[in-house]
Amino acid sequence: MKAIQMEETGGPEVMRLVDIPVPEPGTGEVRVKVEAVGLNYSDILIRESRYMSDVPLPFVLGREFCGTIDKVGSDAENWKIGQRVFGRNTEGGALAEYVVTRPILDVLPDGLTFIQGAAIRVQGRTAMLLIDHVAKVQKGETVLVHAAAGGVGLLAVQIASARGASVIGTASTDEKCQAIAELGGTPVNYSKDDWVKEVLAHTDGNGADVILDSVGGDVLIRSYKEALTIFGRLVVFGVASHETIQLTNRDILASNKALLGYWVTPFFDNHRHLVAGAIQDLIELAQQGKVKLAIGKTFPLEKSAEAFNYMQNRKNIGKIVITNQSSESSSS
Ligand SMILES: NC(=O)c1ccc[n+]([C@@H]2O[C@H](COP(=O)([O-])OP(=O)(O)OC[C@H]3O[C@@H](n4cnc5c(N)ncnc54)[C@H](OP(=O)(O)O)[C@@H]3O)[C@@H](O)[C@H]2O)c1
Repeated sequence: MKAIQMEETGGPEVMRLVDIPVPEPGTGEVRVKVEAVGLNYSDILIRESRYMSDVPLPFVLGREFCGTIDKVGSDAENWKIGQRVFGRNTEGGALAEYVVTRPILDVLPDGLTFIQGAAIRVQGRTAMLLIDHVAKVQKGETVLVHAAAGGVGLLAVQIASARGASVIGTASTDEKCQAIAELGGTPVNYSKDDWVKEVLAHTDGNGADVILDSVGGDVLIRSYKEALTIFGRLVVFGVASHETIQLTNRDILASNKALLGYWVTPFFDNHRHLVAGAIQDLIELAQQGKVKLAIGKTFPLEKSAEAFNYMQNRKNIGKIVITNQSSESSSS
């Protein structure tokens, strides 16, 4: 079968289209014929060896997928051949024609396409848990979302709006800002305007009640010190800038503001019900028409390196999906 494999970590050049044997499901595993793979920022970090933990090499990239079960191993008989499923494989392997997985799977609801199914799990549970479980966003609050036109960002804008919050979203281009506005957020193009000033202007000088930050560095410091209201909550869930910060004990205690962290990996195994609930909540919001699963662009498997470049060059608006069909498409 075709697969996108790396034998060493690095830039897009390490991503090779290879022919490898179709994997066989072992005990407790199922095999899925992959139709669509969701690209996440973490896939780039894994390829570059900048993720929180390294992967064993050679490594078939891709962790979030959607497709049809085509073989069931022993002790996995509750899963059926022909079921349409969406899932995530910590061990990678999804950028291929088939993936074997120890099921972290859900049945794809009727009415959702394979491509939409590849856009639910990772960014969806992140946005959902950030808003409902970590920041505990309340009706009437103001929520500032950084990188708001990205995969997590556009979902967070919509989920926070659905919870009755007023949402401000930052992004680097007018096109991205337009997407944020279309999905209910108040956009701020930080390439043109000072985003802190804009946030203060939108909040009568008080600052936002909640800030979701995946950028880090200066954005994190300014969010905490200048753009967050007293007793507000800042959630740090990514470091796209790769910039570290310095905060002293005094900075934190004198701020009267809550600094919260979110990373799914350490709590996932012991809180699967929480994650599963978040995914179901998102599906309900999508089915009620309150959240749009915004697919920005799709790429065929052979062009996976282009898809990674597209995301790394910050061109994506919403989700990037890599498919096992040979066409490429763009939508808003
Ligand atoms: N903690 C967790 O469990 C968890 C889970 C999922 C995702 N995440 C994190 O959430 C963030 C969003 O993930 P995603 O998959 O939805 O990606 P994404 O938001 O679609 O892409 C990242 C966006 O971040 C913005 N950005 C700002 N400064 C950047 C910089 N210096 N370098 C690169 N991008 C920069 C860019 O938007 P602009 O051009 O508009 O600035 C870019 O498009 C990532 O940082 C990811 O690691 C964390």
